[in-house]
Amino acid sequence: MKIILAAGARPNFMKIAPLIWELEERKKEGRLRHIQYKVIHTGQHYDREMSEVFFKDLNIPAPDINLEVGSASHAVQTANIMIEFEKVCFQEKPDIVIVVGDVNSTIACTLVASKLGIRTAHVEAGLRSFDRTMPEETNRLLTDSLCDYLFTTCTDANTNLRKEGIPKSKVYFVGNIMIDCLKNFRLQARAKGTYKKYGFKEKNYALLTLHRPSNVDEEESLKKIYGIIEKISRKTPVIFPVHPRTRECLKSHSITNDVESIILEKPMGYVEHLNLMMNAMFVLTDSGGVQEETTVLKVPCLTLRENTERPITIKLGTNTLVGIDEQKIMKNFNKILDGTYKKPTKIPPLWDGKTARRIINILIGVRLA
Ligand code: UD1
Repeated sequence: MKIILAAGARPNFMKIAPLIWELEERKKEGRLRHIQYKVIHTGQHYDREMSEVFFKDLNIPAPDINLEVGSASHAVQTANIMIEFEKVCFQEKPDIVIVVGDVNSTIACTLVASKLGIRTAHVEAGLRSFDRTMPEETNRLLTDSLCDYLFTTCTDANTNLRKEGIPKSKVYFVGNIMIDCLKNFRLQARAKGTYKKYGFKEKNYALLTLHRPSNVDEEESLKKIYGIIEKISRKTPVIFPVHPRTRECLKSHSITNDVESIILEKPMGYVEHLNLMMNAMFVLTDSGGVQEETTVLKVPCLTLRENTERPITIKLGTNTLVGIDEQKIMKNFNKILDGTYKKPTKIPPLWDGKTARRIINILIGVRLA
C-alpha cells in the first residue's frame, strides 16, 4: 500500500505531522512493513518561515517532492498544482492520497487523484462557514464531494456532510488532528521563553494574527482593524507576527506602525507561536486553527470574522465572533480585562491527541479500538 500525504500551506503542516509520526512509529515497531508513504509539498507557501521552519519544528522529514508552484491567482495556482501533481501520481502510483484542510493545494490534489481513480481521504472534512465569498469554502465543498474517506473533527461536520447528501459510510468522526500536534508540543512550548523576549509577563499581552483576504486586502478594513488594535494597545501590549500577505497589504495601503506597544514580527515557528498563544491574556485572530487551539488552551479568542466554520469553539470553547466591529471588540476586551469573559465549558469530544492513530487504523482497515 502506498500513501501520498499532500500539503502546501502553513496550516497544513501541523495536520500531516501527526500522521507521519504515527506511520513512523508503526514502522519502527515493524507493524507497517507493507505500507510506504511519501510527502508531497505543493510549494503554495515557500518562504522559509511559512514552510521550512515547520518541518524542523514539527520534527518531520523534508518533503520527498516539492512541486514549487509558488504564488499566483487562484486559478493559476490551483491549475499549476494540478499539472505537477498529476505527474507525481503517474510516477508514484499511490493507492491513496491524503489531503488536509481547505487551501488551494487541498482541492487541486483531490481533483487530480479523484480523476485518476486513486482513493482520496480528507482530514478536517465537513467544516462549513456557509460563506461562499471565502475561497476556502469552495475548496471544502468540492474536496468533500470528491473524497472517499471523510475524517471529521466534530459531529457538526458530520451533520453538514449528511445534509449535502454524502453517504454516511464515507464519514468518520475521528477528532481534531491539530490537537495531536498541540499536545505533543505543549511542554516544549511551555519551557520556551518566547513571550519574555518581548518584555511581556504571563497573561499581560495580546497576540494578533491576521491574513484573511476580507480583512487585509481592502484599505478600509485593514485601517479600521489597525485603529482598533492601537486602542487595545493603550491598555495591553500586542504582539503581531505578520503573514506575508498582510505585510504586502500594510505596505501597499501605507499603514505604518508608530506605536511602541504594538510589536510587528516575522511569522513565527510552531513552538514559538504556541508559547505566545498559551501565555497570552487573549488572542485576536481571523485564522481557523487558532480558534481551535485557543479553545484547548483555554485562552480567550476574539475572532475578527462574521462567521466561522468551527462553531464548536464558540459553543464549548473560548471563542467569540466579533467581526471588525469596534464596539463588540472593546466590549469583549473589557470583559477579558475585568475577568467576566465567558469560561470554556469543556474540550470538544475526541480533541484528545489520538486522532492520527484513529485515521491510520481506519485507512489500514483495522477496527477502531
Ligand atoms: C492560504 C490559504 C488559507 C490559509 C492561509 C494560511 C488558500 C485559498 N488560502 O492563504 O486558507 O489560512 O494560507 O497562511 O489556499 N506569500 C509569501 N510567501 C509565502 C506564501 C505566501 O510571500 O510563503 C504571499 C504571496 O504574496 C501570496 C500571498 O502571500 O500572493 C497569498 O498566499 P496564498 O497561498 O495565495 O494564500 P494565503 O493568503 O497565504
